[in-house]
Amino acid sequence: MSAKIIQAISILNEGGLVAFPTETVYGLGADASNQKALEKIFIAKERPFNHPLIVHIAKVEEMANWARDIPQVAYQLANLFWPGPLTLILKKQPHVLDIITADQETIGLRIPSHPLARALISEFGRGIAAPSANKFTHVSPTTAQAVYEELGDKVDMILDGGECEVGLESTIIDLSGDTPAILRPGMINRDALTAALGRQVSYQQQSIIPTPGMHHLHYAPLTQTHILSNSEIKDFIKNIDANVAIIACESDEKEGAAKLICLTKNPAHYAHYLYQTLRSLDNSGVNHILIEKVPETTEWEAIRDRINKAAAKRT
Ligand code: TXA
Ligand code: MG
Repeated sequence: MSAKIIQAISILNEGGLVAFPTETVYGLGADASNQKALEKIFIAKERPFNHPLIVHIAKVEEMANWARDIPQVAYQLANLFWPGPLTLILKKQPHVLDIITADQETIGLRIPSHPLARALISEFGRGIAAPSANKFTHVSPTTAQAVYEELGDKVDMILDGGECEVGLESTIIDLSGDTPAILRPGMINRDALTAALGRQVSYQQQSIIPTPGMHHLHYAPLTQTHILSNSEIKDFIKNIDANVAIIACESDEKEGAAKLICLTKNPAHYAHYLYQTLRSLDNSGVNHILIEKVPETTEWEAIRDRINKAAAKRT
């Protein structure tokens, strides 16, 4: 075991907070069975208590420690996609603390694939509750530096595992009811889940449960952000006297922009760079961030969801 992991485990055992890399985004971890430690997560993030936390586990067999009446489909998806960017919502075991589930009867579980996350969780030996390691409604961090900018010394340790490969939060699928429903789209998309389950899986836009992923300002930069077509972008820059940055997936020059960032037309690459690009533009002093519309296909669904949230108006 590395010295860093030993230190991280002792912090978790003492009820402290450890930020750690996952393949999706960095998580802000605490011992999932320690009430006081869990409270610190909400305080550090300034997150309201009615937003439940995902518990990160090391092995598929550990699902039963946290969930009950686990349907066969849960094992099917876990075996196919774990470790990986998929969170399963299941009926919770009675011992699970209410602070994790926000007083609901369900729990979110995931095995992340980043080697540091896997080492941390398996050596710790118990579940680690972890939301994304950002302030409530901010863009999720995909580097250790971004975690530091978000939380500073509110976190006892930041494990640096480089850039998160996926770059967007996990897909969340609710398996606690009669029909599986996607609550948050992610890079394991609807088509992949439909193929895995052999039945159509729907994306449930509206949930009765308040979840931060659904908060209209979640993932939002502070800079005014707009989603526009290529020609709307050109008009926007022509008609405004302000510093404008553009995130485009076409390299066609847009004269007059202070910054032009071209992300590729490959959704996996685009997702990988999206949050770090938003974060750096947000810190760059521009007055507007323009994001070029992305394709309407399923592969881009999670990206559309996040950029729509980034562009939601702050009122
Ligand atoms: O990729 C990820 O999922 C990252 C990494 C760190 O694992 N975590 C993450 O956590 O994005 P957070 O808390 O920022 O978002 C988790 C989402 C929230 O929208 C939360 O409300 C939802 O999962 N969630 C957790 N437990 C739930 C439950 N029992 N029922 C419905 N939604 C739940
Ligand atoms: Mg989050």
